[in-house]
Order: sequence, then structure tokens, then C-alpha cells
Amino acid sequence: MRTILAGNWKMHTDRAGAVALARAVAIAERAAGVEVLVAPPFPFLEAVVAACSDSAVRVAAQTCHAEAQGAYTGEVSVPMLQSIGVQACIVGHSERRRYDGENDARVAYKVKALLSAGMTAIYCCGEELSEREAGRHHVVVGEQLATALKGLPAEQLGGLVVAYEPVWAIGTGRTATPEQAQEMHGFIREQLVRLLGPAAEPVPVLYGGSCKPDNAAELFALPDVSGGLIGGASLDAGQFLELVRIAARCVAERRGV
Ligand code: PGA
Repeated sequence: MRTILAGNWKMHTDRAGAVALARAVAIAERAAGVEVLVAPPFPFLEAVVAACSDSAVRVAAQTCHAEAQGAYTGEVSVPMLQSIGVQACIVGHSERRRYDGENDARVAYKVKALLSAGMTAIYCCGEELSEREAGRHHVVVGEQLATALKGLPAEQLGGLVVAYEPVWAIGTGRTATPEQAQEMHGFIREQLVRLLGPAAEPVPVLYGGSCKPDNAAELFALPDVSGGLIGGASLDAGQFLELVRIAARCVAERRGV
């Protein structure tokens, strides 16, 4: 199983802060078995790509448009991102669903555009608190996955990463319990194989939502959790690198090292 730690900086940092944060992550000792990504705001992408160029750290955007070009004021396309060295993109984040009208039908086009360009798509799904309390979390996440990911060709699935982010856990300090996380990650894996076939078995499923050094070890050690999508804690190089080390320890334990 691949293990990935992705830092989503959201609408934080300035140019100098973004470069300094990227540099701190890039020069850290490489953690065996953990793929590290950082997702700065659009204006700092190129500078962060340069800051990470001598390292294994890959740079992701936080959203993109599905069309390659056109009359879409304010949007940024996949080829544009690729032309400056960006290798991945987060899509369907709950904050974009809530504030920008993003929905799975639109996200489906974005995922297709990213995967056919050979980029990594980090597709976010997750239920609202009211949906979990009503016992509808499986229905909601199952529908999200089906709408956004159905029909993807098996040969492109190497570029797909899913992040399960229960909306009630994002930036709230409240995390899913290990039982809730494992149960939902297992469900997501089953759905991926049902929708996309056996080629979807290795698709990494990250956990996101108030993941911090003090709760990460029990989450990353779960059998169906392939690492994390980290918001708040990714803005502090010390905390983010601690999360990378925790993920690396889980990888070593899995391999029986
Ligand atoms: P958080 O954000 O770690 O601050 O909860 C996670 C995310 O939104 O990706």
C-alpha cells in the first residue's frame, strides 16, 4: 500500500512564507515509504515548485478547471498547472463544495482531465455531521464516489487518490475515532473496486480532518488508511514533518521492519 502525506495550505501563507515552509519540508530527511505533497495557493505554486525541485516533494494545486482553455474568468486549467511543474491537484474539497458550488458532477470532469493529463487527482469526499447523525454517511459517500469516479479507465487509476474527510472533522479539532475511520475507509475501498474493478484495489485512501501529531499514529496505523490530507497542521513545518515521521513509522511497522 502506498502512503501519502499531503499538506493543504488552503488560503494561508504569503509568498515568502510559502517558500520558507516548502523549503523546510523539502530539505527534511526523506521518510522512507512516504510520498509527500504540498498544496499552496495558486500565486505561490511556481515558487513552491522551485523550492521543492531538488527534493522528492511534489506540488499540488487546491482546485482546477476541467477545460484546457476558454472563457472561464478566474479559472486555472490542468495544462496551465502542468506547464509550471505542478503534478497533482485536490478536487472536491468540502470547502469548495460549501462556498463555491462544487459538486460531484463537476468534479467528475476535473478528475478525468487530471488523470488523462497524467496528473494525480486527490479526490475529497465525506459526509456532513447531520448526515452521519441520521445514519446516512454510507449512502452519501457512496453517491459521491459513484458520481465523481464512475467510468474512469483502469489504466489511469494510478493517478487517483481518495481523501475521506468527514466535514464535521475539518478544522474543528474533532477527529473521527479510529473505528469510524477504519469502517469508512473499508467501505470506500469496497466501493472503489465495485465501481472501477480490481485495478482500483491499490488506490490510496487518505484520512483528513483535524489530523495532528497527537492523534495521527492511531489513524495512520489503520489497515485501510493510506496516510493523510492535512490542513491546519501542515502550516507548521515542525508539525507536518512530525506527521511524515509518524506515517513512516507506520510504513515500517507494516513491513515488519
Ligand atoms: P484540517 O483540514 O486538518 O485543518 O482539519 C483538513 C483539510 O481540510 O484538508
